[in-house]
Amino acid sequence: MNHFMYKADELYAEDVSIKDIVAKVGSPAYIYSHATLERHFKAFDDAFAGMPHTICYSLKANSNQSVLKTFFNLGGGVDIVSGGELYRSLKAGVDPAKVVYSGVGKRDEEIEYALNTGILMFNVESEQELTRISEIASRMGKKAGIAIRVNPDVDPGTHPYITTGLKNAKFGITIDRAMDEYTRAATLPGIDIIGIDMHIGSQLTKVNPFVDSIEKLKLMIAKLRSQGIDLGYFDCGGGLGIQYNAEEPPLPADYGKEIVAATKDLGMHLIFEPGRNLVGNAGILVSTCLFTKARDEKNFIMIDAGMNDLARPALYDSFHGVLPVRKDQDGMIVADIVGPICESGDFLVKGREVPMFRQGDLMAFMSAGAYGFAMSSSYNSRPRVAEVMVKGGAFEVVRERETVEDLIRGEKTASFL
Ligand code: LLP
Repeated sequence: MNHFMYKADELYAEDVSIKDIVAKVGSPAYIYSHATLERHFKAFDDAFAGMPHTICYSLKANSNQSVLKTFFNLGGGVDIVSGGELYRSLKAGVDPAKVVYSGVGKRDEEIEYALNTGILMFNVESEQELTRISEIASRMGKKAGIAIRVNPDVDPGTHPYITTGLKNAKFGITIDRAMDEYTRAATLPGIDIIGIDMHIGSQLTKVNPFVDSIEKLKLMIAKLRSQGIDLGYFDCGGGLGIQYNAEEPPLPADYGKEIVAATKDLGMHLIFEPGRNLVGNAGILVSTCLFTKARDEKNFIMIDAGMNDLARPALYDSFHGVLPVRKDQDGMIVADIVGPICESGDFLVKGREVPMFRQGDLMAFMSAGAYGFAMSSSYNSRPRVAEVMVKGGAFEVVRERETVEDLIRGEKTASFL
């Protein structure tokens, strides 16, 4: 069931017309469907119904408090990569025992914060980090639960910027070094080895890279067990892709079937860190056509959202479908849909057939719930846009549109000026 659909010629989010939302909150705005968030979480959760598991939502994809609360209400935890993400998660009411902490650059204060919070485990990404965590935990009279993020050297077949599990990537500890690090971890006073972790990339549209990586890690688990090091948690990371355009990613149920088949004999508690899969198709970015211009060689549609609001097309050349909020355009046109930012890379659509939008028309960029608002900035001094959540026939602003005062909050004129 798609919760962004037309009723007559008007685009709706669940039972609310997008036009009505924009009339109230202005344009541009991110709009999230609560029913879609719930459906995606449950589909992922159901895929592992037969196994002990925890879904640790990767909040870097969309860290809005209401999105987090939606998943926590369903029993989710989080995969964090900073003290800021831990703070957000705690504010939204996460159970600390369902927090895993990934990332190659954890600072001392962040490690302390996580230890004080009592998170489940650190996914350790380097030899030096392991030493550091042990030192800090010992000083605090604690033991840190850890997994080693093993870089399995498997190609996930996705965009190079979001490929993380090849051995030339900065992530994790390479598979040939990981055994030694586990052995060393077992001797460190501040460390409690509880798991193993992988995350090989994002927007994967095939299951086999996941399974191939799991198989490699299973060999390690067997060796570790033979050395008396027993691991309770297997963190399979995130990365399951979604449909933006013509991709055909596996359904969570199909992904689940293969992962369960590969892991069920281990007797381990599975952890997953999905981001995009839960939120990507639960959000849209709505924007207004400001102007159009036709040139011999090209048509341009200028809108009030730019690369600062949705960076993915500029960064990864990624595809976001675009739909008219009211279907009353006179046919289609090949055009670039561009933002107000003073850069040629500021486009949301490049050379694609789109409805012939006119001044004042509203349009929706689809599949914008993941890495949309979360990657937005105020570049060109453009206040970040509002975020709205819809549930049935109701909607609420879940993040106010920033104001121009917000833009200079914390700035000051130096006293010597
Ligand atoms: N776990 C770890 C350790 C990660 O680094 C990531 C994403 C995830 C889980 C969640 O991955 P997902 O399930 O969302 O694929 N900005 C890019 C995506 C960057 C992904 C970064 N890491 C984009 O817009 O496509």
